[in-house]
Amino acid sequence: MMLHIPQVLTSAQLREIRQHLQQATWQNGALSAGQQAAQRKHNLQLDSRSPATQQLAEVVRAALMQQPLFISAVLPKQVLMPSFNCYQEGGQYGNHVDAAIQYDALTRLPVRTDVSTTVFLSEPEEYEGGELIIEDTYGCHEVKLAAGDAVIYSATSLHRVEPVTQGQRLAAFLWTQSMVRDDWQRHMLFNLDMTILRLRQQLQDSPEVIALTSHYHNLLRQWTEL
Ligand code: NI
Repeated sequence: MMLHIPQVLTSAQLREIRQHLQQATWQNGALSAGQQAAQRKHNLQLDSRSPATQQLAEVVRAALMQQPLFISAVLPKQVLMPSFNCYQEGGQYGNHVDAAIQYDALTRLPVRTDVSTTVFLSEPEEYEGGELIIEDTYGCHEVKLAAGDAVIYSATSLHRVEPVTQGQRLAAFLWTQSMVRDDWQRHMLFNLDMTILRLRQQLQDSPEVIALTSHYHNLLRQWTEL
């Protein structure tokens, strides 16, 4: 499943993060990739051990956790600390899949990567190229969003970032382990949740709406692992 979540970050948060990114020291992004991905990864990444970077990563993580769409679509069990990256001067990241297991920066505990999230920090007009291309069973999707907006997609999908031929593309990205491992089950739960939401607006809490809500929770009970 792919989902666009608009306005995750406020303009004040964006300003603060971008100010920090302008002054920060960037590292070669290939350092944090596996052997196969490293050959395709040509970007810059912030050292996630810096306290100032961690503080801003926490701002991004907390902002996502306040988004009802993120909660409903991802059903997060563990949200890894976001990282920041920068593509410029032809920088790109060729087709790859994200590693299935990542380790929490603080606790070093393994986290299964079910859902990937990218939060765009540059406006689309600020750079040429740099589209995030996500391949799933329905084909290729091209994503280039307004600064502050996020896209979530299944971490099982093949994806790439097209070369940035002009300007600078800044973004935050993170992985989440979901309470529901299966992408299709998560997708169905999300669709059901959104349908109940719309029905409640029309019918309030009619007996049918309450019955549907009960189906939603019973399915969630069947499919979650905690
Ligand atoms: Ni990736």
